[in-house]
Amino acid sequence: MNILLLGSGGREHAFAWKITQSPLCRCLFVAPGNAGTAAIATNLPIGYNDFERLAEAVREHHIDLLVVGPEEPLVRGVRDYFTNQEAFRHLLIVGPDAAGAQLEGSKDFSKRFMHRHGIPTAASRTFTAETLSEGLTYLETHALPIVLKADGLAAGKGVIIAETRNEAGETLKDMLVHAKFGEASRKVVIEQFLRGIELSVFVLTDGTSYKILPEAKDYKRIGEGDTGPNTGGMGAVSPVPFADEEFLAKVEQTIVRPTLDGLRTEGIHYVGFIFIGLMNDHGTPYVIEYNARMGDPETEAVLPRIESDWVALLTATARGTLHEESLTIGSQTAVTTVLVAGGYPGEYEKGQEISGLGENTPENITVFHAGTLAQDGRVVTNGGRVLAVTALGDSLETARAASQEAAATINFAGKQFRKDIGKDLMQFTVNSYQ
Ligand code: AMP
Ligand code: GLY
Repeated sequence: MNILLLGSGGREHAFAWKITQSPLCRCLFVAPGNAGTAAIATNLPIGYNDFERLAEAVREHHIDLLVVGPEEPLVRGVRDYFTNQEAFRHLLIVGPDAAGAQLEGSKDFSKRFMHRHGIPTAASRTFTAETLSEGLTYLETHALPIVLKADGLAAGKGVIIAETRNEAGETLKDMLVHAKFGEASRKVVIEQFLRGIELSVFVLTDGTSYKILPEAKDYKRIGEGDTGPNTGGMGAVSPVPFADEEFLAKVEQTIVRPTLDGLRTEGIHYVGFIFIGLMNDHGTPYVIEYNARMGDPETEAVLPRIESDWVALLTATARGTLHEESLTIGSQTAVTTVLVAGGYPGEYEKGQEISGLGENTPENITVFHAGTLAQDGRVVTNGGRVLAVTALGDSLETARAASQEAAATINFAGKQFRKDIGKDLMQFTVNSYQ
């Protein structure tokens, strides 16, 4: 079949890498893609929010399956755009409609949804400019720290953790009155701070049945030891050693099933990925957030562990036959180290030539491109997160060492990467999982 994949990050290169391994894939197109996808598929110079040009591409290239990587086109209704047109009745689509994508597109919606369905999450309330004074009063008695979240999409920047009530009050005013995050902060969710260790669980669903994909841990801060500003993600590890069978069974029972049942009872036919950001508080899972897509860089650690045919799984998801598929997961550990541009997550330069790619890469290493561009036969940097280097190993320790070693052999001016990806998890590895 012919497949069109939307997106341009490391997640999409990992999808493309896995899709092109399937005998079911005839031609893969990526819009807009990066230098990594260009090497294994056909990049189309079309933005992923440009639905009309995407529709032309679907027609021109006889696309059978559309796979949506990032959240923005989902929240803007890319699925609805195609399903509402008779001409695209046969197009298979992986990605929820706008109603389902609200799980990520509106924190107010997702919190209300969890409260309605008894899904464990931090207590919260939502305020608007009209209820600002109530919000400020609410903060007076709130335990510290206080978490404030812009309701809408804010490119991963919409969460502020305030250490004092004064800071929380100023932030609330900035968001609601001074539109700190534009339209996204027209509503603000104020919630209780959860303690524990974070991890992410990924669910693939066709609206009826589901598969739980390998879980992963992400490293969000720029600095070692989880210091400094937040980034899109500096690395990932899968599996997560403290997520043992008992914990994952609790996640399935108290979170995954109630989420899918809740969507169904609310009339939302959800087809695609649900990324559940979790806090593990002494063995009890709480939902921090939902995303309507896979994680990045988590995907770069999760997909190399999946042995099943990825196109078969995606197609079955879109067709509503996921129950007929099996999901096989390898026993190795994957560690992903992200190479980022100097200055990231602040200002950084693009266009730096990358060297050391593809030269004697060991068999257990895969280098996924994120912000890269193929230019005159060279590969140059084209974003903050440039490459994601994944190593598979028989233990966390060997995978960690291999990922770090490979990360060190690739170079571009200003390159930075964290040296401690997975280090915090070493304490959990002894006898904690097979
Ligand atoms: P989000 O944009 O919702 O992923 O939030 C970004 C990060 O803020 C999360 O990965 C957590 O580290 C942190 N965070 C969000 N909500 C909470 C919460 N209620 N308690 C503690 N940390 C939180
Ligand atoms: N790595 C976090 C995310 O994809 O949102």
